[in-house]
Amino acid sequence: MQNITIAIDGFSSTGKSTVAKQLAKHLGYIYVDTGAMYRAVTLYTMQNGWIDKDQFDVDALVSNLDKIVISFTFNPELGFAEVYLNGVNIEREIRTLEVSSFVSKVAAIPEVRYQLVKQQQKMGKDKGVVMDGRDIGTVVFPYAELKLFMTASADKRAIRRFDELIGRGDDVKYEDVLRNVKERDYIDSHREDSPLVQAEDAIAIDNSDLTLEQQFDTVLNLVNKTL
Ligand code: C5P
Repeated sequence: MQNITIAIDGFSSTGKSTVAKQLAKHLGYIYVDTGAMYRAVTLYTMQNGWIDKDQFDVDALVSNLDKIVISFTFNPELGFAEVYLNGVNIEREIRTLEVSSFVSKVAAIPEVRYQLVKQQQKMGKDKGVVMDGRDIGTVVFPYAELKLFMTASADKRAIRRFDELIGRGDDVKYEDVLRNVKERDYIDSHREDSPLVQAEDAIAIDNSDLTLEQQFDTVLNLVNKTL
């Protein structure tokens, strides 16, 4: 069977990564979480003190981009690849609300996008890849054989993200999570470089009222029709 490229885009916390991981496992494909890459750059920026409440030293970040090495290593216990920043596993640190509060600002910088998109295109060059993000079907792989655009109501998405953060022991308030989800959606869809938009040939899936099984069945059906 031919290998294809599956691009999954959508707003924050729409369950893109859940369905992408399920699909990659089922098909024996590579899964690439591009949000983790933007989060890794954000963490590096924070670690160096270049971004904080009221200041952001974009020049310092841009002139040090070549020092940021992002890699993925498959963890057989978890069943997916974890992200590493300069050789250190940062899978947990990048999921905090603090990183989420800065990531969209970092992701709006064209130089950052240029570097990461280049790396993403390299990772998916042989097809057999499921990649999720905001610009996969529009910029990274505009010729992907299957493009999905995931949506769900902001409340549902914030509840999911809140449950996830509380589940791992983070001390967060629901209102802060909801505000962050809405703020990221706004910045991601209004930035100049590669704004979040549904590709013309993408299939939209609203999973507000779908169980994980129903969502997976829907998506698998679309994959089988494409193969
Ligand atoms: O997918 P996730 O929510 O982890 O992504 C975090 C942020 O990274 C997004 O809110 C967006 O600002 C940025 N991002 C992006 N392009 C991608 C993936 C993520 O701009 N392809």
